[in-house]
Amino acid sequence: MKYPFDETINRRNSDSIKWDVKDNELPMWVADMDFAVAPEIREALQERLSHPCYGYTAPQEDWYEAYIRFFEEMHHFQMEKEGLLFCTGVVPTISSTVRKLTKEGDHVVVLSPVYNIFYNSIINNNRVIHEVPLLYKNGEYEIDFENLEKAFALKETTLFIFCNPANPVSKIWSKEELERVGKLAYDNHVVVLSDEIHCEIVRPGKEYIPFASINDINKNNCIMAIAPTKTFNLAGIQTSAIYIPNKELRKKVDRQINTDEVAEPNIFACPAAVAAFNHGREWLKEMREYVFANRDFLEEFVEEHIPNLSVVKGDATYLVWVDISKVSTDSKAFSAFLREKTGLFVSSGHVYGGNGNQFIRINVACNRKTLIDGLTRLKEGVELYLKEKN
Ligand SMILES: Cc1ncc(COP(=O)(O)O)c(C=O)c1O
Repeated sequence: MKYPFDETINRRNSDSIKWDVKDNELPMWVADMDFAVAPEIREALQERLSHPCYGYTAPQEDWYEAYIRFFEEMHHFQMEKEGLLFCTGVVPTISSTVRKLTKEGDHVVVLSPVYNIFYNSIINNNRVIHEVPLLYKNGEYEIDFENLEKAFALKETTLFIFCNPANPVSKIWSKEELERVGKLAYDNHVVVLSDEIHCEIVRPGKEYIPFASINDINKNNCIMAIAPTKTFNLAGIQTSAIYIPNKELRKKVDRQINTDEVAEPNIFACPAAVAAFNHGREWLKEMREYVFANRDFLEEFVEEHIPNLSVVKGDATYLVWVDISKVSTDSKAFSAFLREKTGLFVSSGHVYGGNGNQFIRINVACNRKTLIDGLTRLKEGVELYLKEKN
């Protein structure tokens, strides 16, 4: 490997939310990586830093070109420049969209379990969360199209927030699923907000499909939130894009992100994105290999050493969704126990809704040594839990 994914970086006392923990604790929760950002991106940031003026800025031609070329070459998907808007993040995009495209009391549909902040964006704006739980069969998740159709058909339902690929269930949606979702939404006058922030973190050999790329129905009825931040570990820089091919929808969202003052980049936001998309591909290729080898390692470790747990097989994200139902159906209590007794800090599944109370989410974007430490603590924690609770 060209890049040092095996190195240990001390992130304690570095203003990291993830690592703001006690000395004995090992954080494997919030979705950022313990890997060093690609040197190509760091160099671009250093170059910007070396210019002594940090005044107001706006996306330049190279920002549009970087997104367009990356999506064309990686996903065979052609975006038009005028469809792209800058936004400081995917969560701000979601909240602004909820505010603009729905009104108080409207239902906003999500497929649970799903990224917990979707719920905040809905509740904080006094809209109604309409959960359509994913079907969980033989260790795999599927969309419950019958219930999704019922949810979309309600007159109160105006927006669907989709996670493509899905966090935390690690699923890449197929062309058929995306087509079916798009048609159901269109037929019922529901706009699709597709959060594609995890789209590059897929198993080597697998491909994610952009929601808008399926057909004109999907394209004209969607808002796609995309970003380099998960893929290239740049979350603290706060940089993302919104792709909205439909002019009318775009005008509305553009208005709202400006009203909400989340449409302007800080001085590092665009250079970081441009460097990532233009020069980060080799790093990305290696990161995917490393992360998916970690996922497989975790799966084998659990199968062999913690047979009371089972891992949901996944081809997307560095977040592993682990079924704890044979040990506990109270994920919050179990996660708190793990943290207290072993120092291992994972995300409790209950925050993601649906059947999340029987799961924990483990972030494996760390080096192998850290992963082994985490898995050893997990094994110890499960054994202790079973001893104490039974
Ligand atoms: C599905 C999903 N969307 C959005 C975000 C956060 O996006 P941002 O940092 O751009 O607001 C995350 C972070 O974990 C995520 O998992």
